[in-house]
Amino acid sequence: MAEIVLGMWTTHGPILNTTPDEWMLRVINDKRIPHWFEGKQYSFEELVELRKHEDFTEQITLEERTLRHARCQEGVAVLAAAWKAVKPDVAVIMGNDQREVVLPSLQPMFTIYHGDTFWQKPLPEARAEKLPVGIKESEWAYRPEEDQVWPGLPALAERVLVKGQESGFDFAASSEWPEMGEGHHHIGTPHAFSWIIRRVMEDNPVPMLPVITNTFFPPNQPTAKRCFEMGELVGQCIKEWDNDLRVAVFGSGGMSHFTINENFDRDFMQALDDRDRDFLTSIPQNILMQGTSEMRNWVAAAGAVFDSGLKGSTVDYIPCYRSEAGTGTAQGFVVWQ
Ligand SMILES: [Fe+2]
Repeated sequence: MAEIVLGMWTTHGPILNTTPDEWMLRVINDKRIPHWFEGKQYSFEELVELRKHEDFTEQITLEERTLRHARCQEGVAVLAAAWKAVKPDVAVIMGNDQREVVLPSLQPMFTIYHGDTFWQKPLPEARAEKLPVGIKESEWAYRPEEDQVWPGLPALAERVLVKGQESGFDFAASSEWPEMGEGHHHIGTPHAFSWIIRRVMEDNPVPMLPVITNTFFPPNQPTAKRCFEMGELVGQCIKEWDNDLRVAVFGSGGMSHFTINENFDRDFMQALDDRDRDFLTSIPQNILMQGTSEMRNWVAAAGAVFDSGLKGSTVDYIPCYRSEAGTGTAQGFVVWQ
């Protein structure tokens, strides 16, 4: 029977792929948008007032950002080294889409990619130029320099689709990334998957099953409980798979952003350590908003991995602040083997 031999939970955002100076480019956007924090929405100015007792002054100096940036790179290096050492045969990645291939016109809660292959290409210059500042600079970590075709994992995907039908999970199925129009900001594999291929697998991917969860966009973001159960179903499909393949499972995304909430992140890390199903399945919907919504991918991966014999721990947790409002992105890395 197939076996889960590696579980990894990792952030994947631009902070990991840009310089401490470039981190600050996103503050312009932070000031423009409303932010979710502890279940409520605030303007940037309201957050500054609300969180002034936390005083982020020291944490956003270039010196401190430089130290935290270095820890982020060390964390990614630990993941890449573990990947190389364990050498799984195939991988399942729990990830999400940010209007890359899933549009509001058709937005499934969960999509199983069952194609034989999936592709990625460099973004044409005209499209790259339109990317927001601070995002453009990080594109190298999501895209190859030349066109790539990677192997899918249709055999496992089809098992998940069928077992889903039998157990009340009505997955959407995708066999190919849609070709987006010229005006669209993205082509090919969504960032949650391509980042793992570029920076953890270092461009040497194994056959992979991308599971796309609509973490971000109302009105149909799945509950944490549903994500965990979906992960359990995928875990069962792996266990019952009649071959001797060694499987890696990834949770890709998070942690809290664009308002960092260290209490939530640390409680979440503790819940992983404790295999605490109750905590993970009861995270309220209004906590899993904006970038923090990607923690649904971590919950789904936990659903698949908790029942394995794997053990592990947190590699690092690094809250990467960039403003006096406590905005930024918290980075985290966990490896079980
Ligand atoms: Fe993301």
